[in-house]
Amino acid sequence: MIKQWASWSAIALAAAATCSPVLAQDKIKVGFMLPYSGTYAALGNAIENGFRMYVGEQGGKLGGREIEFFKVDDESDPAKATDNVNRLIKRDKVDVIVGTVHSGVAMAMAKAAKESGTVLIVPNAGADAVTGPMCAPNIFRSSFSNWQPAYAMGEVVAKKEGKKNVMTLTWKYAAGEESVNGFKEGLEKNGGKVVKQLTLPFPNVEFQALLTEIAAAKPDAVYSFFAGAGAVKFVKDYHAAGLSKTIPLYGPGFLTDGTLEAQGEAAQGMLTTLHYADELGTERDKAFRVNYAKNYKLQPDVYAVQGYDAAQMLTVGLKAAGGDISKKDAFRTAIEKATIASPRGNFTLSKAHNPVQDIYLRKVDGKENKNIGIAVKALADPARGCRM
Ligand code: BEZ
Repeated sequence: MIKQWASWSAIALAAAATCSPVLAQDKIKVGFMLPYSGTYAALGNAIENGFRMYVGEQGGKLGGREIEFFKVDDESDPAKATDNVNRLIKRDKVDVIVGTVHSGVAMAMAKAAKESGTVLIVPNAGADAVTGPMCAPNIFRSSFSNWQPAYAMGEVVAKKEGKKNVMTLTWKYAAGEESVNGFKEGLEKNGGKVVKQLTLPFPNVEFQALLTEIAAAKPDAVYSFFAGAGAVKFVKDYHAAGLSKTIPLYGPGFLTDGTLEAQGEAAQGMLTTLHYADELGTERDKAFRVNYAKNYKLQPDVYAVQGYDAAQMLTVGLKAAGGDISKKDAFRTAIEKATIASPRGNFTLSKAHNPVQDIYLRKVDGKENKNIGIAVKALADPARGCRM
């Protein structure tokens, strides 16, 4: 009798193991597709650090589920993007993709995510199309659209700085082009004009001939989009050419975020616009900064914040879905309704799943991008072309 009870109970336990919330025991597979080499390597690392730090703060689990990480170095190379993202989707069978930095790579990822239904959280790349024509129920962004900080800077340059004739200089790919378009919109609305647009291929850093052209044209100001190692070299070259004394250089905050240690004197006094700044002074930001410095022996930057917030967004969705990411409607609706308590300040998501957020005006002072005011409050990307 005892023997029989034992075998029934073994059967019952086995059945419970199959029908029970197996999901609660499995790990959620998160695939980082980020640049770990090349000009944007530091940005990729900061995003991963921020994401992992939030997971650590939650005791290693999000929405009750342990996390298993997978990683692909996308090298900021759009030509390799489809193969790379398919490694995560088809080979590793991840539940969520977190990536990437480069807009061109992100567009290939958005296409693959849309086709496969895999959840994609974009922790940097600002490609307007991702939350424009390519928007989808399973695609979310924890960062910004290229239009957002650029539009704000257009307003600042024309209205506050009173500069009307502006030349632009950027890398020739989606982020640079869209940044200039957004800047132009804000500038022209306020009576300014882009007099010439200069470009060089990504990730080229041979700026000399272009700086000579700027010096000869003598515009009122220059607007540039560069980031990472390229931004370090550009700001230093601009300063070394003697241009910063006579022709002020403006840009979205990527020009000076995470780069000030290396840019040193060359960046002092520069004004940029971004959805994060050093010394925001809130309790939320202070705690984030202290913990980041403790964990990584580094000061955080906007990229770390975006990685951290990608993990927060995933948590909101997972909690609402009871840890089961296949409950797509619950997962998505919760993120759509959430207010994310970010170190940057609270933000919500637009219908296209892009942050609606304050854009700060920042001034470089020593090794900090100090907040000197809000350039545009609760700025929403226009999400042109998004049908959802
Ligand atoms: C982008 O390609 O979208 C991008 C890269 C670095 C910083 C900001 C935007």
